[in-house]
Formats: sequence, structure tokens, C-alpha cells
Amino acid sequence: MFYYLLFRSKLVPRWISGWGLIAAAPYLAAGFLAIYGAFDHMPTPNALLRVPLGIQEMVLAIWLIVKGSIRLRSLPSPPPRIQPPVEATDTGGNHMKAIVCTGYGPPEVLQLQEVEKPTPKANEVLVRIHATNAAASEAMGRRGESVVGRLILGIRKPRKRYRILGMELAGEIEATGSAVTHFQPGDPVYGFTGFRMGSYAEYTCMPATGSLALKPASFSYEEAAATVDGASTTLHFLKKGRIQPGHKVLIIGASGCIGSFAVQLAKHFGAEVTGVCSGRNVDLVKSLGADHVIDYTQQDFTQNDETYDIIFDTVGKSTFARCKGSLAHNGRYLVTTGNMMTNYIRTLWMAIVGRKKFIFAVSIDKRKALEFVKGLAEAGQIKPVIDRTYPLGQMADAHRYVDTGRKRGSVIVTVTPESES
Ligand SMILES: NC(=O)c1ccc[n+]([C@@H]2O[C@H](COP(=O)([O-])OP(=O)(O)OC[C@H]3O[C@@H](n4cnc5c(N)ncnc54)[C@H](OP(=O)(O)O)[C@@H]3O)[C@@H](O)[C@H]2O)c1
Repeated sequence: MFYYLLFRSKLVPRWISGWGLIAAAPYLAAGFLAIYGAFDHMPTPNALLRVPLGIQEMVLAIWLIVKGSIRLRSLPSPPPRIQPPVEATDTGGNHMKAIVCTGYGPPEVLQLQEVEKPTPKANEVLVRIHATNAAASEAMGRRGESVVGRLILGIRKPRKRYRILGMELAGEIEATGSAVTHFQPGDPVYGFTGFRMGSYAEYTCMPATGSLALKPASFSYEEAAATVDGASTTLHFLKKGRIQPGHKVLIIGASGCIGSFAVQLAKHFGAEVTGVCSGRNVDLVKSLGADHVIDYTQQDFTQNDETYDIIFDTVGKSTFARCKGSLAHNGRYLVTTGNMMTNYIRTLWMAIVGRKKFIFAVSIDKRKALEFVKGLAEAGQIKPVIDRTYPLGQMADAHRYVDTGRKRGSVIVTVTPESES
């Protein structure tokens, strides 16, 4: 109640009080501490009384996340500040083609529709998208599998502003807002829209200071779109793994999007790389530069008496418990997927306890990584693996293939072929 009143008061800026997640944070923390505290001691009746209290705080937190932002936003507003008019370059017609996610479910929920074309705000750029990526995480979002995903996108179906999925893009700047100085119309770019989504469309707007960079000159738009998430996520994780020259690194899922970049980038950082994949992908993983390849259908790497400084599970097919014996003394187990809440708690816990570390992370801010990757790409040190390419109208087919869990590298969707631009 104290926090609710605090957020209603004028002491907290309105832009913060409108954000239910921040309002919910104290409840989440209080709930976690109450439950954790109860089990930290002998489970006396007194300590156990804290469990219902903790659960109540957690329920309040979830309620605030789901409803709080709506309720708090409806508080009486201060007089509106007058915004200077936005001068954006003319973007032509008012409509565009986009893939709209009409609900959570099978690939058929993705439908090609004509929608309103976005207009950039003062600090935004309008990108004409040439290619996007049908990624495993977007397929997961479409299926509505993750609770956190639903909390962000919408509980029963994606909210209106998230109906156009897609986080990776490569295209051309078509127009810039009046405050944008470092991009020009015509610049070839590649980028990551993150939780704004919107790249399954002919156009999208992005903040000019967001995860956007000039596209590697040596890459086609398809290759650039296939590089955005795989390369930047890999960099994020290898940095957390504190990779060093000479480290022994094992990559599970070495033939997937993240895995194929993980092999190349770990080699770039001077590691000795072992890739784990099925027999049909052994040659591919070798061609990416892996020193050793283990076919998981024939051999179990946890039984081979080898130890690794880093085990990077890019596809969430192992567990820390299974891999622990294969980690070196101060080894790090990195994982990209799984239950977000428990993974974060475990990461925090294991940062304090034990020598072998469990590390989960989410890579969101990719601007610096994209600029770094551009240099590597132009120097010929990395190259994306593109399994299949589909036109925008066949997005459902692209997702159907991604759902098999067997894609190699990326599945790319061409939005506007370069010849038509
Ligand atoms: N944390 C983050 O910031 C972040 C960012 C992006 C993505 N992600 C998550 O990362 C995960 C991986 O994404 P991705 O696009 O790289 O996956 P992906 O390309 O869809 O992975 C497919 C590959 O996994 C391989 N595979 C399947 N089972 C395997 C097993 N038991 N052992 C080894 N390899 C196996 C398949 O090879 P075979 O056919 O040879 O088995 C296939 O080549 C997704 O869950 C995604 O949501 C997380």
C-alpha cells in the first residue's frame, strides 16, 4: 500500500509511475525475500508463516505488472508539454504489407495484411526492410509458450502494438526524424528492434540510438539479417564466459543460428573449439572452424573425460548438473534459454557460491556488438549460415520449418528484394 501511494504521489515522476514493472519491483523483492528467508532458517511455524506473506507479495507484484501500468497511467495527468512538430522526410504512401500475428498458436496465426505505415518520431529512423529472420525466439513468442513473453506481448493474444512480430532486420534508412544526425536516408543498416518487435513488415521505425548500425558492406541484406541476433548474442555470452586465448570451449547446438556464430567467434578469440551437433551437421560445423566435433547421437561428451573452460549450451539441451563434471576448475556454463526467473535466480546465487558458474543472460542492447561484428564481417572472419530463404508472404512456412528445431543457422525472409528497391 505504501508503494502504491508513493507511486500515486507527485514524488515519483509520471514516466516511472506509469511503468508497472518498476512499481512491482519492491513487491517482487519483498515476496522473494520473505519466501527465501523462511527456508533460510529451520522451518519453524514462525518462519513458515512468512511463506503466505511472500506469496501475497508476489501475487501483488504480478497484478501490478499486468494491470498496474494501465491503472497508474489513468491517474490525472499534468498539463501536456508542448512537443515541437516532427519534421520527417516524406515516406510516400500510407500503407505497407506486414505479417500480423492474429493470436498465439500454430504458424497459420501469421497472416499477410495491409497495415498503416509507421511515421518516425523526432529521434527515430524509418527503415525500409529488405530482409528479416524467422528466429527460434520469435517462433516461441508466436506459440505464446513463455509466461514472461505473454506478460510482455499480451496475456491472451499479442497486444495491438506487438502484433507485428520480428526483431531482426536489414534494410535501408528511408526517412529520419528531425533530431537524428548520424543516419541519412539511403544508409544500408542492420539492427535489432528487441521488444518493440515490428520487423516482419516492409517498414518499421527504430530509435536512431537503438541497436542499429551500418550493414557490413560485404554482406547482402539476407546475410546481414542472418547475422544480427546470432553474432551479437554470442558476443554477449562469450564476454560473460570471460573467454581467453587457449580456452577449451564446448558448444552445444553448434549447427544452429547462435551455435554457428559461437564456433566462429570462439575461434576468433583464440579458443580450442569443440562443436556438438548431429551427424548430418558434422561437416558444416567443421567448415566453420571447429577443432573437434562430437556427434551427440553417437557420443556423450559428459563421458569422454575431457574438461572445458566454457560449456556454451546455445539450445538448452543440457543441464548444469549433467555438465558440471565436464567443466574445468573455474569453468563457466552458459545457457541461452530456459525458465527466465529460475535461471536468473540461479545465476545470482552461483555468482556467490561455488567455483563453477552457471550463467544465463538476455542480450538486448546490441549496438556496440553490431558495430564490432561489421568489422569482423568485412575482414572475412565471420559468415552467417543461411539454411532457407522464403518471401514475406510465406512467413508461416518459414515458422513451420523453424518449429522443427532442426534448422541450420538461420531461416531468412526476404521482405523487399533488393532489385525492387
Ligand atoms: N538469451 C538470449 O539473449 C537469446 C537470444 C537469442 C536466442 N535465444 C534462444 O537461444 C535458443 C537457440 O536459438 P537458435 O536460433 O540458435 O536455435 P536453432 O538455430 O533453432 O537451433 C537449431 C539447431 O539445434 C540443433 N540441436 C537440436 N537438438 C540438439 C541437441 N540435443 N544437441 C545439439 N544440437 C541440437 C539442431 O541440430 P541437429 O539437427 O543437428 O540436432 C539445429 O541445427 C532459442 O531457444 C532462443 O530462444 C536466446
